[in-house]
Amino acid sequence: MSDLTAYLKAKQQEINAALERFWDGTEPFPTPLIQAMRYSLEAGGKRLRPVLCLAASEAVGGSDADVMPAACALELIHTYSLIHDDLPAMDDDDLRRGKPTCHKAFDEATAILAGDGLLTAAFEVLASAGRARRSDPLKWLEVSYLIARAAGCTGMVQGQMMDLSVEGKAITLEELETLQQLKTGALIEISVKTGALLGGGNPQEVAALTAYGRHIGLAFQLADDILNVEGKPEIIGKPVGSDQAHQKITGPSLIGLEQAKARARELVDSALEELEVFDMRGQPLAALARYIIERKK
Ligand code: IPE
Ligand code: IPE
Ligand code: MG
Ligand code: MG
Repeated sequence: MSDLTAYLKAKQQEINAALERFWDGTEPFPTPLIQAMRYSLEAGGKRLRPVLCLAASEAVGGSDADVMPAACALELIHTYSLIHDDLPAMDDDDLRRGKPTCHKAFDEATAILAGDGLLTAAFEVLASAGRARRSDPLKWLEVSYLIARAAGCTGMVQGQMMDLSVEGKAITLEELETLQQLKTGALIEISVKTGALLGGGNPQEVAALTAYGRHIGLAFQLADDILNVEGKPEIIGKPVGSDQAHQKITGPSLIGLEQAKARARELVDSALEELEVFDMRGQPLAALARYIIERKK
């Protein structure tokens, strides 16, 4: 795909417009809670998970409208996870998306509640899609279930717990990949799978795209760890060197920078192989896979 930048920009605008509609239902509550939720959601994230959801739908011949509520839900969950990840009790970071973290801009209690509000909003959006006129409620029920499994104690939240519990300890590469698959990979994989399911993919297509999502999910976290070593804080919008300062176990800390880069490339190659059956419609996903390890932010 020649112009991923234009593709990303167009999709990000569509996603931001859809996310904006959520606030209509919150008008009677113009409180610091809503301000904090909006502050983090609108701070300028890449919207990678919702973009992957839309691109997977496109790959199987679905439309953006078919999947938009799921795309929004995924970004709401992701943003909540970042707010909580940055809290003093977790990674204790002060900068996120180029701005003071939520607990710095507001306070800790407000940041915890803003995260709670965003997580709950995600399932409100999914349930609303299922109860809308002309929708297929069972389809949305299934997607809600899969997203809950990927985000909760069988997915991301479990990975976050493991990430904290291994700080400063010796673990194997296999253990690190299990942890990273849970804390970051699970939500990325389900973003792609959800797009494939809601876009109407057949079982083979859904399986291929799920495998693609699994590979890029792991590659994404490796790239994040690499940027924490050699990224530029003014570009990535978050601190550099904080993983080492907190004795985090990461790809680079465990196997070295070069090996971590090689592993990320290997994972992206595996992801690209899964796209072979998708002709032109898989091109945005191919470009996104490459972007995941080439990105500077
Ligand atoms: C950062 O995710 C946190 C991880 C799961 C590694 P992103 O790099 O997608 O963050 P934003 O959404 O663009 O801020
Ligand atoms: C974040 O992982 C993962 C989740 C929020 C679920 P990291 O802690 O490694 O990501 P950054 O570097 O703070 O974005
Ligand atoms: Mg963390
Ligand atoms: Mg962190």
